[in-house]
Formats: sequence, C-alpha cells, structure tokens
Amino acid sequence: MRRIDLRRDTITLPDGEMRDKAFKAPLGDSVYDEDPKQRELEDYAAEKLDKEKAIFLPSGTMGNLAALMSHTERGDEIIVEENAHIRASETGGAACIGGLMIKTVTGKDGIPDPSIVERSIRPDNIHYPKTSLICLENTHYRYGGIVSPLDKFREIRTISEKHHIPIHLDGARLFNAAVYLGKRVTEITRFVDSVMVSLSKGLGAPVGSVLCGPESFIKKAKRYRKMLGGGMRQTGWLCACGLSALSEENIGRLKEDHHNARILAENLAAIQGITVDLTRVHTNFVLASFEYPWFEAPIFLQSLASKGVYATSAGEKAVRFVTSKEVSREDVLYAIDAVKEVVSERFSE
Ligand SMILES: Cc1ncc(COP(=O)(O)O)c(C=O)c1O
Repeated sequence: MRRIDLRRDTITLPDGEMRDKAFKAPLGDSVYDEDPKQRELEDYAAEKLDKEKAIFLPSGTMGNLAALMSHTERGDEIIVEENAHIRASETGGAACIGGLMIKTVTGKDGIPDPSIVERSIRPDNIHYPKTSLICLENTHYRYGGIVSPLDKFREIRTISEKHHIPIHLDGARLFNAAVYLGKRVTEITRFVDSVMVSLSKGLGAPVGSVLCGPESFIKKAKRYRKMLGGGMRQTGWLCACGLSALSEENIGRLKEDHHNARILAENLAAIQGITVDLTRVHTNFVLASFEYPWFEAPIFLQSLASKGVYATSAGEKAVRFVTSKEVSREDVLYAIDAVKEVVSERFSE
C-alpha cells in the first residue's frame, strides 16, 4: 500500500546525490579536527549564518544544550517562551545537565513578549539567580511551524543589548523561516548571538545540526560537545550530507514543502467540520482542528494510517501534518482524499 508520511520532516532521507557525495568524502578524526568535511561544513555554516565560528553536532537537542551551557554557569536562570522546544521537548536537559533554572514567559505565537522578557530579567541581588540567556525559536514547532516577525526579534535584541544578556536561537527550521520571509537567513541571525540549525529535518541530511556563534562561545561549546558525547570521530560522510543540505539549491527547495502544506491546508479547511487557520500556515506544518463530536485524535490517526497516511496528534481534537521532500504533490492530494474518506466513513456509521 502507498505510504505517505506526514508525521514530521525528520523522516527525510538523503537523496542519490547526497549519498554519492557522502561515500566519496575523505575521512579523518574530527575530535583532532582532522576530518576535512567536518572542517569544511563548519566553515561554510559559520559563513552562511554570518557568525565567527560553527561546530557540527549529532542532533539539535545537543546543539541547544551545548549552547545553553556555553552561555551560562550552573545555577543561572534562562528566559524561555513557555512552549519552546528547549523547555518542552528536550528531556529537561537544561535543568538536569546544565543546572539551569528556566524562567518561562508567555508570548503570542511563541515569541516571548518583549516587555515580559524585560520584566523577567533579575536584578543584581544576592538572593536571585543570575539571568544569563534569552532563548528564541524560529520557526516555532508547537505553534505549527509559524515564523516570528523580525520586528519582535529587533525589540528583544534591544533589551538583550541594554541588559548585556545574549540571545540563543533554536533555529532547527530557520531556513524555512528565511524562505517564508523571502529574506537571507542572516537578516534573522543578526539579532542573535548564537544559533542552532538542524540539517536533518526539511534539509534532508540523515543526521546532525550546526551551532554557530562567536569564537570564544564556540570554543566552550566544543568542550561541551565532547562532554555530552558528541565527539564523533570520522564524521566526513555525515558532513558531506550536511554540506549538500546547506546548498542554496536545497534550501530553495523548501518552497515546495511550503506550497504542498498550503494546498493541504486549504483543502482540509474546505471540509466541513475541519478548521485550519490559514493565516498561520507559514511553512511546512499544518495544524487542523476536527470539530466532530465523535473525534478522538488517536482513533482518527489509526483510521488514517489504515489508508497509508500518517500524521500526529496535536491535542485531543487536533492533528499535525508536516510536509517534506518525501511527500510529493500527488501524495498530498491522496492524503486529502484519505482524510475525506475517514470522515465520511465515520459519518455513515
Ligand atoms: C524546534 C526544534 N528544536 C530542536 C529540535 C531537536 O532536534 P533533534 O531532534 O535533532 O534533537 C527539534 C526537533 O524536532 C525541534 O523541532
């Protein structure tokens, strides 16, 4: 049976060209800085994101954690939006490994409200932890791949400079945001001190992320990468995939995923009983609410899977669909028909 996987963009596989380049890549021990492709990828990523230096890590989670640890001391407090991936989905690493307190702040669409950020910064007082970092996320996972407006980043940057507190950006899907905005990614990274970008999501590399920032910060992050188990030795094959992932052509391709998500969103929104806020479909995510009395996400997803279409629950009555290069336009049309079939089968029961 046809299988259409709309669960996440992490399911992407390296294409033929990527595999070819990978297996021809020279190898060396990256812990001794002797893997030529890792060095090339790190230099390329730093240049692309307009930061002094970059390092390659096995995952986005490790990239974020190494960043938090490099910006802070144990016992410090960091400001994080309440639904940020760093707080909600990284296994509590900031607290457990980083020894950090998290001050959660609210904000529309995952962007911490600048005035709340400023109010949350601790005064210099012997009783308080030191506020040492502000975290942002763009695109925002929990709010459905939504893109943050740049003027909010500018406002938060002003606060960060006023209080001398750096900003780390969880940019797992930062290139999706740049493509949506029609801007160079550096128009976003100029507002932050450090940024983590995933290579293994929409960009299609099998493994890895890059963390970019000032030279002194990256020097610390390198030590933490090693401490966390991210010294991976002969990384050249993975880094060759990372270099293809960061090519302009590959980044430009994300537009297709966004277009497919829009088609999916518009067609789902046209089905009676399904609501999709089309103004919030910015990139490759579609969050759909199913307003039928019978609807229970796990049961619906099971019925959908029986037709070969896979998605994930985003709440009791909500489903998340994520497009990627593994999903063609025809697949999207097939998925829409499958949703219609499941809904009409339930109605005729
Ligand atoms: C916004 C965001 N940040 C960080 C990560 C962590 O990346 P990884 O799965 O490579 O650890 C993810 C993963 O889905 C994510 O969505």
